[in-house]
Amino acid sequence: MIDLECRELVKTFDRFTAVDGVSLVVEKGAFFSILGPSGCGKTTLMRMLAGFETPDRGEVRIKGRSMLGVPPNRRPVNMVFQHLALFPNMSVAENVGYGLRRRKTPRVEIHRRVQDVLSRVGLGDSVDKRIDQLSGGQQQRVAIARCLVLEPDVLLLDEPLGALDLKLREHMKVELKKLQSEFGTTFIYITHDQSEALAMSDRVAVMNRGVFEQVGSPQDLYYRPETPFVASFVGENNRWRGRIVHRDLEGRLQVRTEQGMSLYASAAGRGWDRAGQEVEVFVRPEMISLSLSAAHEEMHENRLEGQVVNILFDGSRSQVLVQQHGSDQEVAVNLPQAAEFSGLSEGAPVYLSWPSNRSHAFPFWA
Ligand SMILES: Nc1ncnc2c1ncn2[C@@H]1O[C@H](COP(=O)(O)OP(=O)(O)OP(=O)(O)O)[C@@H](O)[C@H]1O
Ligand SMILES: [Mg+2]
Repeated sequence: MIDLECRELVKTFDRFTAVDGVSLVVEKGAFFSILGPSGCGKTTLMRMLAGFETPDRGEVRIKGRSMLGVPPNRRPVNMVFQHLALFPNMSVAENVGYGLRRRKTPRVEIHRRVQDVLSRVGLGDSVDKRIDQLSGGQQQRVAIARCLVLEPDVLLLDEPLGALDLKLREHMKVELKKLQSEFGTTFIYITHDQSEALAMSDRVAVMNRGVFEQVGSPQDLYYRPETPFVASFVGENNRWRGRIVHRDLEGRLQVRTEQGMSLYASAAGRGWDRAGQEVEVFVRPEMISLSLSAAHEEMHENRLEGQVVNILFDGSRSQVLVQQHGSDQEVAVNLPQAAEFSGLSEGAPVYLSWPSNRSHAFPFWA
C-alpha cells in the first residue's frame, strides 16, 4: 500500500530552483527520512507535501488521491515544524486538544483522546502544566502529540529534534521510533543529521541542491553509496585521487594514486570505469584494520604503512591519524579496543589494510 507519492516536483523562487524534479514513493507505515545539508530544499519539499507551497510542476498524491488544489487543512497529513509552534499561554492539554476543538469534536472525546496520546508520549502527568514549565524535550513531545492526536495518515516532521541538546536528541530518537511503530503512522522525517536518519528510518533519501542523489535503506547508503556526495555525507571517509590502471572481471579496479601507490576498490556505478579515467577512492575509517606488525594475519588487498601522528580519544569512537609513508596524506582509522593498542603513542609505526569491496571508487570529472 502506497501512502504518499510524488512525481517530478519542481519549485523555484524567482530564478532559484529550490526543488528540482524530486520523485518519491512512501509505503504505508514506513519511516522515510530526507537527509541533506542546510539549504538543499528539504523544508520546501515538505511544504509542498503539506500544501503550504504550490509546486511549479509535478504532482503529489496521498492515498492515491491527487492533492492538486487541496488546501493544507484538507490533506490527511500533519506537519511538525522546524521551529516549534506551540501556544505558550495554553496548557499542555489545551495545546494538544486544539486541532480537535477546531474540528468540533465532542468535549468528552477530546478529553479522552488528549489523555490517551499524552500518556503514550510519556506526559500523562503534565496535562495541566503550562508550556513554559516544560523542558525542551517535553515541549517537543507536546508538539508531536498535538499532531498524532489528529490521527493523520502521514506525519511530516521537519527537524523536530533540531533545538535539543545531544543527550536529549539521542533519547528522543529512540522515543520517536517507538511512537511511530506503536501508532503505525507513516512518518516523513527531515534531518541533516546522518546518525538520526540511519538509526530510525526504513528508507532514506539523500538530498543535495534540490535533487535526490540516492534513495535506499540505511545499509544501502552506508555500504553502497552511488555518488561521492552520498559517500561523504553519510559517514566519514579517507580519500585518494588517482587513475584506473586496470579493471578485472569482477569489476574490481586497480588504481594508481598520485603518490604512486596501488589501491583496489569497487567501482560505484557502471559504464565509466575505463583505464586512465581519473577517480577518487573512498574508504571509511572503520573499514580499515590497524595492526602493530607487518605480518598480521588479517591483511587485505589494500595495505599501507605509516606512523601515528595523533590519537583522537573519544571512548569507543577513538581514532588514530596515520601519516602514510612516502606521502603527506594522513589517514584516519578507528582505534580498536584491544589491549595491545592501549599503549599506542605518537610516532609508532603501524600497518593498515582493508578489502577492496569496502572501498569505493568514483569518477572524478575535473
Ligand atoms: N520563500 C522563499 N523565497 C525565496 N527563497 C526561498 C524561499 N524558501 C526557501 N528559499 C530558498 O530555497 C532554498 C532551500 O530552502 P529550504 O528551506 O527548503 O532548505 P532546507 O533544506 O530546509 O534547509 P535547512 O536545513 O537549513 O532548514 C534555500 O536556498 C532558501 O534560501
Ligand atoms: Mg529546513
